[in-house]
Amino acid sequence: MRKYLYSDETLFRNHDLFEIGYVPEVFNYREAQLEDIAFALKPGLHGSRPLNITLRGLPGTGKTTAVRLIYSEIEETTRRLVPVYVNCQTERTKFAIFAKIYGKLHGHQPPPTGTPVRKLIYDIGRTLSERNTVLSVCLDDANYLLVNKTLNEILYTLLRLYEEFPNANAGVILPMSSMEVKLPQELDSCVLSVLQLKEVYFSPYTEEEISDILKYRARLGLFPGVLSDSLFDLIIEQTMRCGDLRVGLDLVKQSVMTAERAGRMAVEPEDVLSAYEVSKHVHLSASIRALTKDEKSLLYEIADMATDTGSFLTSGAVYEVASEKMRLSYTGFYEKIRKFDQMRLVELSYLNNGGRTREIALRYDPEKVKEVCE
Ligand SMILES: Nc1ncnc2c1ncn2[C@@H]1O[C@H](COP(=O)(O)OP(=O)(O)OP(=O)(O)O)[C@@H](O)[C@H]1O
Ligand SMILES: [Mg+2]
Repeated sequence: MRKYLYSDETLFRNHDLFEIGYVPEVFNYREAQLEDIAFALKPGLHGSRPLNITLRGLPGTGKTTAVRLIYSEIEETTRRLVPVYVNCQTERTKFAIFAKIYGKLHGHQPPPTGTPVRKLIYDIGRTLSERNTVLSVCLDDANYLLVNKTLNEILYTLLRLYEEFPNANAGVILPMSSMEVKLPQELDSCVLSVLQLKEVYFSPYTEEEISDILKYRARLGLFPGVLSDSLFDLIIEQTMRCGDLRVGLDLVKQSVMTAERAGRMAVEPEDVLSAYEVSKHVHLSASIRALTKDEKSLLYEIADMATDTGSFLTSGAVYEVASEKMRLSYTGFYEKIRKFDQMRLVELSYLNNGGRTREIALRYDPEKVKEVCE
């Protein structure tokens, strides 16, 4: 009988290369950023406190990958510095985060129930102090912890461990794709004074860089002849519509899967175009994730209006509706709209009537935008 699940007809040489969590071995164009991160961590190798840094940059610019690469180098080379990677989209409470640190330090999880956070912190502090090891904690997408001042509390505890436990040194890495979050406003001054945060900026990749990275990945991951040069160019063209590398990676994967499912040996233009309808949502989700709460509400309102009217929206009309629902100055409103434009969530254009009114066109299906914003 024909095999369904384990058919070996595949166009992928290595499917893993297109999975979300894959850490690439070759990571070009981020040399300066890797060096900055390494510089910040270096004191930790000698038992001192690492510098605290925030990594800023739009979605898909390599922040998470950079940390993963540096952390795996640390794991391979030293036990003096213990790196703990935390994904704040899934670990959102003080307990969850300290349990993660505890687990990494002690090699086993704390008892799931009945352990107070205080006890975890006490054990962590004592272990660091006794073993003379240093902690580096990466709170990835730390903006998720701004609710209820969770981030403030965690940083306060971590960075002041040394006061109670001699030589218990810890440093943090805070990658954030939200460019608007202003930590000095979100954190208390007693935290800011120990934090002394330095910023490492991850600029957006240029078209050439995106093309080069994707070409390399496709060469390693696909069999020769599966993706022709001209279709590769089409993929780059589609990717640049939102400028997000992650969309490009997903486009390659989705197009090849579509060709595979149709029993073809090579990708065709329709495969790329239909894949784009799926892959562009990768960008939508990542971008919306990077918005602050207010920005999300505003985008929701725009999507809502776009559903109702179906036609174009003017900046004035949107401001009128939005300012009824949320507190918003016109300047604040306009800054947010411009940001949506830069993130390629909307397209902003002047109306040809000589005035200052702008047209706002959503680049995505309004229903989909509303769904993701919620
Ligand atoms: N320079 C690069 N070379 C090869 N692959 C890269 C490079 N930069 C990013 N990538 C790939 O792009 C994808 C997105 O990168 P990553 O997750 O590190 O971005 P990010 O800045 O953390 O994004 P977000 O803010 O959305 O979390 C990953 O699959 C990663 O493998
Ligand atoms: Mg990331």
